[in-house]
Amino acid sequence: MVLGKRQGLSSHRKMNRSSIYIFLNILKSWRIFWIVAGVFVTLSSFLICKNGSDPISVKDRFPGRAWTEPINLGESIPGIRGLTAKDCGGCHEDHYKEWKTSSHANAFSDLQFQAELSKPNSPQWLCLNCHIPLSGQRKQIATHLNDGDVFQPVLVSNEKFDPEWEKEGVSCGTCHLKSDSQGRTILIGPTGAKAPHSVEKNREALHARCNDCHNQDYKLNASLVCYFKTGDEYAESIHFPKADCVSCHMPSINRSVVLPSFLAEKRDSHRHTFIGGGVPKTFPLFDAQWNGYKSGLKIEEPRWSFIKNEIVRLNLILENSLAGHSVPTGDPERHLLIEAILQDADGKEVSKHISKIGQIWEWYPEAKLVGDNRIRSGEKRNIELTLNTGAGKKPTFGILRILHVRLTKENAEHIKKNSGRAPKEIGDKLKQIELHYPFANVFYESKTDLRTGKIRITSKEGLLFSSKRGNP
Ligand code: HEC
Ligand code: HEC
Ligand code: HEC
Ligand code: HEC
Ligand code: HEC
Repeated sequence: MVLGKRQGLSSHRKMNRSSIYIFLNILKSWRIFWIVAGVFVTLSSFLICKNGSDPISVKDRFPGRAWTEPINLGESIPGIRGLTAKDCGGCHEDHYKEWKTSSHANAFSDLQFQAELSKPNSPQWLCLNCHIPLSGQRKQIATHLNDGDVFQPVLVSNEKFDPEWEKEGVSCGTCHLKSDSQGRTILIGPTGAKAPHSVEKNREALHARCNDCHNQDYKLNASLVCYFKTGDEYAESIHFPKADCVSCHMPSINRSVVLPSFLAEKRDSHRHTFIGGGVPKTFPLFDAQWNGYKSGLKIEEPRWSFIKNEIVRLNLILENSLAGHSVPTGDPERHLLIEAILQDADGKEVSKHISKIGQIWEWYPEAKLVGDNRIRSGEKRNIELTLNTGAGKKPTFGILRILHVRLTKENAEHIKKNSGRAPKEIGDKLKQIELHYPFANVFYESKTDLRTGKIRITSKEGLLFSSKRGNP
């Protein structure tokens, strides 16, 4: 049986071969034409590929990732003039003023962001999807990627671009506006209250929105990664599910949510300051952002003890009781610095020890997370440090200072050196970034008299004063 089948097959094949032979014979005189045509087709398709017209739509390349495309909005919705934060602020003044002080409102103007955007290898279109996510904020929109490569976007210029909206960063519409299945622009609110504009009640969508940007990781190439895992950290935190991103970062307040002229009743409302790590985007914003800032850590009174005359031990307990995620969380560069300092009776420094709490990344040859000693939600960390004056002399004071750092001095130097790449107005600021952009805050400071054990803890106002005084 099997053999028979084979025989049948081979005779079938023979028949085919002979018909091809006849066909080729007919075309014999055309042979040269076919060779030339073949070469032409191969060459031109190669050239087209090189020019990158093998485009894959962004949707197909990144199915289901909200941050790979801007939200496509119309010009407005019935009842209001426009969709920018400034338009909303015309009636929702308190929300607008609070939001203006937030890192969200400064997510585009952020000098570090602008510096990174001006790097020659920056996949700008992708960065902008999280930092200015509404279609009207975009000069150009990436529709396709040549060969599916994130570094080769096909950019289409956007007629509806509004440069004022661009400056608004993570604007109101980021969370409150969406496009429905028919392409209509919809405004989302938590209660569906009656308003001059239509409101679709969807509190869940508002709360779920945070993770679209704060819980994403993606490797763009060997040395470029997106890495924000705050949502995952939250799901494992001691506060899950009682408190969430919104209840901690948008605290409740009872007030009218529109201008008094609307005669609206007071209601449950939420602060829109989005205070996080207490390091704002400009020095003048320190006052507004410091006001509601609270470290995630409970810091017990430090204990200093002499091991020998010149050797002192510091015991410190840090407990992450207030944050619903690691401290610090978010951007991989964020870290805490613990500075322990010994001084003599004249206040002269005689020994110093600095340790870091954060993530450690190796960027070359390949981006890799190689260490992470951040303090997890609920964790109580015992830290023991030993300081040695080396001089055989007994120190008099022990100083403990803890900083929350967003930008390292090394990276700031790098930004200054490459400031020429950015547009002139921004470049001029980058050249002196330390004058315009806070790198860190000091969120704890105490001074202990080692002779008596008496401790002086710096007040919140004192900490604000040293934080906004300028970069160290
Ligand atoms: C012409 C004034 C006006 C403008 C402009 C305006 N709103 Fe409103 N909005 C109102 C009023 C009035 C209410 C009802 C307030 C109440 O009854 O508590 C309201 C309610 C809301 C609510 C609460 C809905 C709910 O479910 O409870 C949200 C959210 C909201 N507006 C967002 C926005 C956003 C975002 C913009 C800008 C795109 C905007 N509004 C522009 C007047 C305005
Ligand atoms: C479209 C993306 C996007 C969404 C959605 C989003 N964020 Fe953000 N968020 C950002 C960006 C970008 C920054 C940082 C801006 C900067 O530092 O320049 C940020 C910063 C923050 C910070 C840090 C503040 C600081 O200065 O330390 C907090 C807190 C925060 N967001 C909370 C939230 C909460 C809560 C939600 C949901 C209600 C949310 N975000 C939704 C993009 C987003
Ligand atoms: C990062 C997301 C985000 C941004 C940006 C944002 N909101 Fe909200 N907003 C929310 C969430 C979440 C709630 C609902 C909280 C709840 O009720 O649980 C809310 C609630 C509101 C409400 C209802 C009343 C209240 O305070 O709870 C109004 C009005 C409002 N927002 C207006 C604005 C305006 C105006 C802007 C811009 C100036 C803005 N929002 C920007 C997330 C955002
Ligand atoms: C139980 C309260 C709580 C919850 C829940 C919470 N946070 Fe926080 N978050 C904090 C506190 C407190 C800080 C300040 C931490 C610090 O710097 O000491 C903070 C800081 C941040 C920062 C700034 C980075 C930093 O380390 O300071 C971001 C960004 C942030 N939170 C985003 C989120 C997002 C997104 C969610 C939800 C997935 C969330 N948070 C849930 C309390 C909370
Ligand atoms: C998935 C959304 C997303 C994308 C894509 C994204 N970012 Fe962000 N970016 C964030 C969020 C969320 C934060 C806030 C985290 C925090 O506050 O620690 C942030 C913060 C930043 C900051 C401020 C860091 C700080 O601590 O002050 C810079 C600078 C930045 N991003 C640059 C970029 C660049 C450059 C790109 C493109 C290569 C990019 N981002 C792409 C979401 C995104």
